[in-house]
Amino acid sequence: MISVKEQRQLLKEDRQGEAFYVAVTDNDSGERKLFIESYGCAMNFADSEIVASILQKEGFSITTDSGQADVILINTCSIRENAELRVRKRLTDFRSSKIKKPSLLVGVLGCMAERLKAKFLEEEKLVDFVVGPDAYRDLPRLLEEAGTGQKAVNVLLSREETYADVSPLRFASNGISAYVSIMRGCNNMCSFCVVPYTRGRERSRDATSIVEEVRTLSADNFKEIVLLGQNVDSYSFESVEGNVSFAALLEMVANVDPLMRIRFSTSHPKDITDEVLYVMAAHENICKYIHLPIQSGSSRILKLMNRTYDREWYLNRVAAIRRIIPGCAISTDTITGFCSETEEDHAETLSIMEEVRFNFAYMFKYSERPGTPAAKNYADDIPEEIKSRRLTEIIDLQKKHSHARLLSQIGTFHTVLVEGTSKKSANDLSGRNDHNSMVVFPSPGNILPGQYAGVIIRDCTSATLLADFIIR
Ligand code: SAH
Ligand code: SF4
Ligand code: F3S
Repeated sequence: MISVKEQRQLLKEDRQGEAFYVAVTDNDSGERKLFIESYGCAMNFADSEIVASILQKEGFSITTDSGQADVILINTCSIRENAELRVRKRLTDFRSSKIKKPSLLVGVLGCMAERLKAKFLEEEKLVDFVVGPDAYRDLPRLLEEAGTGQKAVNVLLSREETYADVSPLRFASNGISAYVSIMRGCNNMCSFCVVPYTRGRERSRDATSIVEEVRTLSADNFKEIVLLGQNVDSYSFESVEGNVSFAALLEMVANVDPLMRIRFSTSHPKDITDEVLYVMAAHENICKYIHLPIQSGSSRILKLMNRTYDREWYLNRVAAIRRIIPGCAISTDTITGFCSETEEDHAETLSIMEEVRFNFAYMFKYSERPGTPAAKNYADDIPEEIKSRRLTEIIDLQKKHSHARLLSQIGTFHTVLVEGTSKKSANDLSGRNDHNSMVVFPSPGNILPGQYAGVIIRDCTSATLLADFIIR
């Protein structure tokens, strides 16, 4: 068995929902070697840790070198066309490995596996097996089947599977921060979104198993956990003592270890309750940061998107956040160029951005996904050059707001959870503050990754706060 510490590794995270790459530790024990690469959202990343745990029990060790692997798994994302194109390109890269080593098995996991199912085996000749997000327990059998030359597929979605009893193998963790899945699937049916089809019905994981996992992470010296779900606010678990809401779960998790930071993602504007906000305000270790995707500032477009809230509702939730948690950071996602979006609709997105002044945003062009209600019912009728121009306007405005938000922190005190040395200078440390902003400061020499540092912000770049060290 490889210990959690030995499994610590590098994680490069690009844009949320776009791609992240997981490199894993080498182990020369002569066991069968597994290489996993993950794309998509944090939930895929968390799933790869579940997959690694399932296969470790089958005697697999993990390798960072795809050339050494006996099995290559690609955990895929379907959220936008670009995400799928990236995976397809990667699959062709692995073609040469397969030619060199015919016994190599290549498997596709995750959302693209679910969306394309057996088509994947026919289209991509180098793929040996296809496994959907709810079928990972079946991997040992599928691998055996694929090993005998059969085309192995399991893309059954489940109404119950939460992998609650599988203890994730934290192979890609930095040993400081860990993802904890609290639910799977999504019932929301936003008209643009493929997730309800690739991840199935929403189900909440047993609250006791979540709290147990957090206790274990605390005992293993992790300092930050991120609770994950497509819509954490609709978490609802029927326990013997009654219903556990997200607010109740958050409180239970925050009480496990007061020195452990708690984050969560994603909040949904229609469902986020004042109760959750009060729990956040009451617990110092719950980070004062909410990711609240808006998608559009136009109520007409929000209706077409089936987001089930309008502009006023969103602004009202932001007002509640500001009232109950003064200074709370808010980030968002936007989709530009959705079906029939006019210049007026676009101007409403810019104006709501001005009203809220988000700390940060992930900004996307609408990408039509086959089979979604939007693809079936509305024309993807905004020309590419208009989508691009509108996206540039949104990005430029957000850059101004992000920078202004950082500038406003100059002179203030922040607690930073140190993650490591700065990428730019070995004499500097870097980590995140309570708002999820990156902070860099000169190393005082006696602070290690995983420890907290008190700093005063002295300056900022466009995306990073620069600080002076004050206190351990
Ligand atoms: N569950 C989260 C979102 C998960 S997907 C929520 O409801 O907020 C992450 C982001 O990808 C979304 O917020 C949206 O901005 C973007 N996205 C989803 N489908 C998209 C599509 N078809 N085209 C462009 N962006 C999309
Ligand atoms: Fe997709 Fe909407 Fe569910 Fe988010 S809430 S995953 S955007 S359907
Ligand atoms: Fe992508 Fe699936 Fe996540 S489509 S964003 S990996 S839920």
